Amino acid sequence: MALIGKNIEFAAGLLRQNQLVAIPTETVYGLAGNALSEKAVASIFEAKQRPFFDPLILHVGAIQQVASYASWHDERLKRLAEAIWPGPLTVLLPKKSTIPDLVTAGSELVALRIPDQTLTLELLKTLDFPLAAPSANPFGYISPTNAYHVDKQLGAKISYILNGGECRVGLESTIVGVEQEALCVYRLGGLAVADIEQIAGPVTLMLNLSGDPKAPGQLKSHYAPRKKLYLVNEGLAIAEPGTVMGYLGFGTEHEAIQRVPHITYNLSVSGDLKEASANLFKYLRLLDESEARYIVTDYLPNEGLGMAINDRLRRAMAH
Ligand code: TXA
Ligand code: MG
Repeated sequence: MALIGKNIEFAAGLLRQNQLVAIPTETVYGLAGNALSEKAVASIFEAKQRPFFDPLILHVGAIQQVASYASWHDERLKRLAEAIWPGPLTVLLPKKSTIPDLVTAGSELVALRIPDQTLTLELLKTLDFPLAAPSANPFGYISPTNAYHVDKQLGAKISYILNGGECRVGLESTIVGVEQEALCVYRLGGLAVADIEQIAGPVTLMLNLSGDPKAPGQLKSHYAPRKKLYLVNEGLAIAEPGTVMGYLGFGTEHEAIQRVPHITYNLSVSGDLKEASANLFKYLRLLDESEARYIVTDYLPNEGLGMAINDRLRRAMAH
């Protein structure tokens, strides 16, 4: 059990001593430490049981601070950041030597963002160093969208959880970079691709669904609940007498689901993708903790935030 509260000065004091504090953001909660301290950064990897080859995102409080840690090498990324920050966008920029190699896992690029959450923005503004913060979940598990999620899984390993309530967006930030002149999205997230294209022009999707983390972004087993996740029809096919299924729904209930006893969490009864994003990880957790033997779902419409939700579902099904 960690201390949970809204005391920014207390959080800042711990971070200055290179201790870890969980912070709320609009996307998911982060496990934060002083990004300029190798000791703090190493303890983030340790607490999360995260492999050292998976680099961390740097969180800053103002766009002017970016120049101390990285170079704006492409005008489109700057335009995006100016339009979206604070918000669910992470940009990959050439790093400066001020950033420990441990943060970027040896890469020449560093990931940066300004989160849109009042408490955390205030915290960042009182600190004179950036915060390195991965999502505050054990490696490979579903990201936390409230302080209780963090406490349950990492409470014993962190000094304080800054409580900002429920995350408004509920999906991790969208990661964007440039490769051979092309604007690339490496992770779908809380900022829709269509919004990026409107601001910065066409993008190439570089979504790595292999077990190879060399390409920035993702491992295929990310975001997985402990229970297996199937498409509805697959789940129905393997149901045995007495089976209770967990059903992650969206809009109107899949008709065939009536054939098997089930527990339903509906991401958005009205079919709203924003609402569905905000509920996704919480409902996956609730189903994971329920009496259901396994979980079934269907892909959502593959547009807007639906693309990022489907990406998370696909990865969670890759068991
Ligand atoms: O919304 C978010 O981005 C949340 C909140 C806490 O800010 N953070 C988050 O961090 O999702 P994490 O560590 O769970 O995911 C960060 C992803 C990783 O998959 C990592 O591979 C990629 O960002 N990444 C970080 N630094 C990178 C770099 N230098 N080059 C390529 N990919 C990088
Ligand atoms: Mg994560």
